Amino acid sequence: MHRFHYVGNTLHCESVDLAAVAKLYGTPTYVYSAATIEDNHRRLVGSLDGLDAQVCYAMKANSSLALLRLLANLGTAFDVVSGGELRRVRAAGAPLDRSVFAGVGKTEAEIRLALEAGIYALHVESEPELARINHVAGQLGRKAPVAIRVNPDVDARTHAKITTGKSENKFGIPLRFAPAAYEAAAKLPHLELKGVQMHIGSQLTAVGPFVEAVEKLTPLVRQLQRDYGITYFSVGGGIGIVYQEALASGEAAWWDAQPADRRPLTPEAYGAALKPLLQPLGLKLLLEPGRFLVGNAGVLLSRVEYLKRGHGRNFLILDAGMNDLVRPVMYDAYHEIVPLQRDTSRRALKVDVVGPICESGDCFAKDRTLQEVGEGEYVAFLSAGAYGQVMANRYNTRPLSAEVLVRGSSFELINARETFEQMIASERVPAWLK
Ligand code: LLP
Repeated sequence: MHRFHYVGNTLHCESVDLAAVAKLYGTPTYVYSAATIEDNHRRLVGSLDGLDAQVCYAMKANSSLALLRLLANLGTAFDVVSGGELRRVRAAGAPLDRSVFAGVGKTEAEIRLALEAGIYALHVESEPELARINHVAGQLGRKAPVAIRVNPDVDARTHAKITTGKSENKFGIPLRFAPAAYEAAAKLPHLELKGVQMHIGSQLTAVGPFVEAVEKLTPLVRQLQRDYGITYFSVGGGIGIVYQEALASGEAAWWDAQPADRRPLTPEAYGAALKPLLQPLGLKLLLEPGRFLVGNAGVLLSRVEYLKRGHGRNFLILDAGMNDLVRPVMYDAYHEIVPLQRDTSRRALKVDVVGPICESGDCFAKDRTLQEVGEGEYVAFLSAGAYGQVMANRYNTRPLSAEVLVRGSSFELINARETFEQMIASERVPAWLK
């Protein structure tokens, strides 16, 4: 459930009128709801009650310092995938000693940074990486805590670009090679074998693939406990959220109305299915949810620039482009688009919702039926809190959007819109061109 809803006919985030935010800070602007993140966190942790579980928020989903701090205050640690992310955790004043470092391409400098920061563990994706970590740890005169990411070869039944647990994906060490990899790792003097890791994909909408992967890994996990005394099992992230009917999904009635077999994956269903498999292992559990914690807690506000009537088509041209929210063009992702001011007396219009960028691909939705809106009015893209701002870029020399955090009836700018001067600050024209 989330906290975006109409009060009368104006869209609110918690108790804040989103049009007020758009007017004050301009658009495009991302707006996040603190209460929604807190709720999501509470539900997830509640569903794992009885397990010794640590949530390591996959901050690639949204790494704004304010959100990192908010989540750290709730007790999460972090799943970082670069030196930059690691430094962000530090900049947010959040601890790293319960956080993990994932990713297939860790550089020596990143490994050094993580070890010096006292990272809880490095999640290792290959044999050459084991050797590199051992080497860096040796230079530092310490042991590196590691867990190997094991690829269980399970079909996550999600978009091809975000499935990771199949044998053809670049991630992890195949299950059948994992015992040998641990054996080799155990011989390296500067490694401490601390756990085992899996992550099969993102935006999973059914619990089946998680269950299948945990079941496939369980014999190995038991063997690693026996042979090396590993202490934790990281089951990765991947819990999906609602994109279609995102606004209605903030209402309890909507959930009740979904037939059981079409109900989106809830943390309760996730916990109920995994607990009986994980509890008997007696290991510490690590989870790395990204999207689930922040996805439905954010919207992207955008202003309508023009309603252009083309030949047999209407184009709703917004001030947000694919540089601000890349998911629709990159994954054919669906984001619900709603007006900030609802007016039931207006007609519904079929439109292509597009951005201002000079590419036909800059299209958020084709043939979408929306209430007619015109120049100067605002719309919101829902469920844009995860993989929104973090994937934005400056194509067409467009600045990165502003970000705002709402709590109750107050809101605050947590990231100012980039200025033109900031965008070109590091560029130089060589003297010989002048
Ligand atoms: N752990 C690992 C090792 C991961 O690779 C990921 C996501 C996560 C955890 C968090 O997954 P989540 O709980 O957020 O599903 N940009 C894409 C999603 C890419 C996900 C990459 N890995 C999108 O916009 O849909």
